Amino acid sequence: MSVIDLQGIFTAYEGGDKSVIRDLSLHVDRGEFVVVGGPNSAGKTTLLESINGLVKITHGRANVLGLNVLKQGDEVRQRVGYVIQNFYFDPFTPFTVQQVVMMGRFGHMGLLNRPNKSDYEAAERALMLVGIEDLADKRIGTLSGGQQQKVMIAHNIAKAPEVMMLDEPFSNLDFQAREFLQGVFSRMARDGVPILMVAHAFDGLPDIPIHLVVMNRGQITSDWFCGADEVEEVIRKECGVARDEGRKRCSSR
Ligand SMILES: Nc1ncnc2c1ncn2[C@@H]1O[C@H](COP(=O)(O)OP(=O)(O)O)[C@@H](O)[C@H]1O
Ligand SMILES: [Mg+2]
Repeated sequence: MSVIDLQGIFTAYEGGDKSVIRDLSLHVDRGEFVVVGGPNSAGKTTLLESINGLVKITHGRANVLGLNVLKQGDEVRQRVGYVIQNFYFDPFTPFTVQQVVMMGRFGHMGLLNRPNKSDYEAAERALMLVGIEDLADKRIGTLSGGQQQKVMIAHNIAKAPEVMMLDEPFSNLDFQAREFLQGVFSRMARDGVPILMVAHAFDGLPDIPIHLVVMNRGQITSDWFCGADEVEEVIRKECGVARDEGRKRCSSR
């Protein structure tokens, strides 16, 4: 069974009168590096939130890690990493970087909710992997937007997720940081953890086959594998292509 298995789902926001995502199917297997592209308001964020059960799925089937997202959402969220889009910490947030990264371990801690040696090690490793160990004792609210993004990436790496979802995680980061972190994610993918990344800039993608998903108006208009260097061109083309045409190509995958 696929790690992510969505079949004909429709989703609606609380109080929203129409479905944001309509009749969407997606299958993602272990170790895939998925890039999700498409114009603003296409439903990319809503797709990620459907996968971890943060929006209501009104029709269709959603299984993640063999769990039913509708019934076992809490367990899905515990096992899926999710770096959300456009967050920022208030300057007075009373947590250090080390503490925020350690919060990624909460789902792994025992009844007493006290970190043990392996939790400290996982947090330390995540800080080093992302290259922010020198920020460990800084209060998170005092950091720049790009540094805060790195902290939330480290938080989600410390969580040791079985799926990693990232929603425009690089919006405040320069090319070097993007390339470096994409290397980190491609190693996670190589270790079997599927990566789903919503992005608008496609430079510095790892040189591995990319599972490219293009969305428009709540549907997937293209779903296929391509090389890292083809991603941008395909997205440009697909965004101007009519839905039915995109679907035809998708089914030939
Ligand atoms: N909390 C919400 N309540 C109601 N509608 C929403 C909410 N969040 C997003 N939407 C709507 O869902 C559609 C898709 O949004 P989104 O998934 O954020 O798109 P993207 O991430 O591709 O820019 C948009 O039309 C947006 O207005
Ligand atoms: Mg979005």
